[in-house]
Amino acid sequence: MEGKAIVFPGISMGVLVSFGALTLCLVLSSASAVLQRFHHPPKPDASLSFFVIGDWGRKGAYNQSQVALQMGVIGEQLDIDFVISTGDNFYESGLTGIDDPAFNESFTKIYTASSLQKQWYSVLGNHDYRGNAEAQLSPALTNLDKRWLCLRSFIVNAEVAEFFFVDTTPFVDKYFLKPKGHVYDWSGILPRQQYISNLLKDVDLALKQSNAKWKIVVAHHTIRSAGVHGNTDELVKQLLPILEANKIDLYINGHDHCLQHISSLDSGIQFLTSGGGSKAWRGVVDWWNPEEMKLYYDGQGFMSVHITETEINVVFYDVFGQVLHKWNSSKQLHSYW
Ligand SMILES: *[C@@H]1O[C@H](CO)[C@@H](O)[C@H](O)[C@H]1NC(C)=O
Ligand SMILES: *[C@@H]1O[C@H](CO)[C@@H](O)[C@H](O)[C@H]1NC(C)=O
Ligand SMILES: *[C@@H]1O[C@H](CO)[C@@H](O)[C@H](O)[C@H]1NC(C)=O
Repeated sequence: MEGKAIVFPGISMGVLVSFGALTLCLVLSSASAVLQRFHHPPKPDASLSFFVIGDWGRKGAYNQSQVALQMGVIGEQLDIDFVISTGDNFYESGLTGIDDPAFNESFTKIYTASSLQKQWYSVLGNHDYRGNAEAQLSPALTNLDKRWLCLRSFIVNAEVAEFFFVDTTPFVDKYFLKPKGHVYDWSGILPRQQYISNLLKDVDLALKQSNAKWKIVVAHHTIRSAGVHGNTDELVKQLLPILEANKIDLYINGHDHCLQHISSLDSGIQFLTSGGGSKAWRGVVDWWNPEEMKLYYDGQGFMSVHITETEINVVFYDVFGQVLHKWNSSKQLHSYW
């Protein structure tokens, strides 16, 4: 496969310094695994094309198969390098285990076009946490379908752009305080506050150290959205300041089952929702400043991004493959010397 991901195992060794009680603190605070990094080379002309889809796994139902078909057609035209999934990969409750046939029925058997036989990079959504979350992270699934890679938080360095995938479900208070009868798989997450603070620290550091031209953060939950879920307050408070301080270009999410582009006037960040992989048409849209709201589409579809050293192009498509909205931005050619 062209553009195969190469794994650089994260260096996560805590430095043991013997200062009595202090030793424990140092080890604990450095126990956060440094984010795992992957390298995905761009095309020879340094450009990159990829799709973003979210909230999809329903065994083909609710237009999932129609969206997949159009992704196949347009993926051929764009010669995409990979696909990003913003989570809620398998409904209603993730996978039961690595042998759950839903993996085949909602993924392998649905995205069959040859243009989609590329690496997929996925995060977990809140519905994925209602099943066996760790199953989706298992290399056993990659053995079943070599496109699959899902981790909680990780980095993909594609040279012209760097992608920071962030696990946002553990940030959301209501899943812990008011789970409404749902059972979430928090194994590997607890203690929660430590998990969140380590993650924020790791993301901040990785963003600071990045010298990529374009910085793109991918997560499941919204930060800015006029959809039924609205802004995720926990992320607005805890994650957004880090994204603003590090001047990221795009924040890409799912969660609201729609296609949406909010161009932030104060931070310059583009908030892009691609959550139209299957069930949509919720019929709930809140008012939003029209100067910021560039697209709100309540139905199914997907998004493509094309990146070069000097330009980024975002396009949203509906279930028929029709273009709903386009946006682009440019930067001066980088001077490395
Ligand atoms: C599938 O897409 C068509 C066209 O947008 C829409 O009319 C129809 O309601 C969709 N079906 C479902 C189940 O959402
Ligand atoms: C996936 O489903 C197809 C068609 O139903 C079947 O032929 C194939 O064996 C299944 N693959 C796995 C790994 O279960
Ligand atoms: C970028 O967008 C502008 C309109 O906003 C359009 O005129 C121009 O053709 C676009 N450029 C590319 C390369 O798509």
